[in-house]
Amino acid sequence: MPPNPLFLMTTRKKIIAGNWKMNKTSAEGVTLAQDVVAAVGKQSDVEVIVCPPFTAIEAVGKALEGSNVKLGAQNMHHEASGAFTGEVSAPMLRAIFATHVILGHSERRTYFGETDASVNKKLLAALKNQLKPIFCIGETLAEREAGSTLKVVQTQVEKGLEGVSKEQAPTVVVAYEPVWAIGTGKVATTEQAQEVHAFIRGLLVKLFGDAAAQKVRILYGGSMKPSNAPELLAQKDIDGGLIGGAALEARSFVELVTAAAAVK
Ligand code: PGA
Repeated sequence: MPPNPLFLMTTRKKIIAGNWKMNKTSAEGVTLAQDVVAAVGKQSDVEVIVCPPFTAIEAVGKALEGSNVKLGAQNMHHEASGAFTGEVSAPMLRAIFATHVILGHSERRTYFGETDASVNKKLLAALKNQLKPIFCIGETLAEREAGSTLKVVQTQVEKGLEGVSKEQAPTVVVAYEPVWAIGTGKVATTEQAQEVHAFIRGLLVKLFGDAAAQKVRILYGGSMKPSNAPELLAQKDIDGGLIGGAALEARSFVELVTAAAAVK
């Protein structure tokens, strides 16, 4: 039977990505990675990514070898090398076989002064080095209450993705993370999340055209856990999750992968 083009166009493999933040020593990270590999290392219906802190990233990468679980970093500098004390670059991440990098997480924006412009520089550098950005955006509680969620998200998307080509766009992963839902236990309702995800998809269509925009995975992040994941993941434009707290234990992270695999 010939493939149905409509079906192919809208099928996006779900992603479950763990953002470990500033948690896990190298040894603890290896143990967690081994547990994840043992449970879902052969998983191919869902793309599974873990993003350890820099001190654990190389050892975790070794623990992932031979499995389908991918390795991501939580940040990087936009330059390839040089006098930037305390920073790491895209080529350094590529050299330890990282495939993804989280960029512009709200904690980086809030505590470390990252802006749409600096995130954009990093994103272009990541793409140039064949690293897939997990590009984070999202509004604060004050912005949501002021009714400016969509405007805030639009600015972040347009500025963050400036200079990205139509060909590069499908390799970008967008993570919509309402700041008020991160680490708070307050998850966005499925309607709130789907509304913003659909809006982001619309922006991507305007920027890159329909074909490229339909390939971009848009993850939800913010207190996603096994109990609320199935409903969120069933939404048309929610293509996975960027997981903080629930990624620190193999059991809950694996349950999220299983939940993503179960969505048809
Ligand atoms: P959380 O974090 O799942 O702990 O809310 C998500 C994130 O910040 O990426």
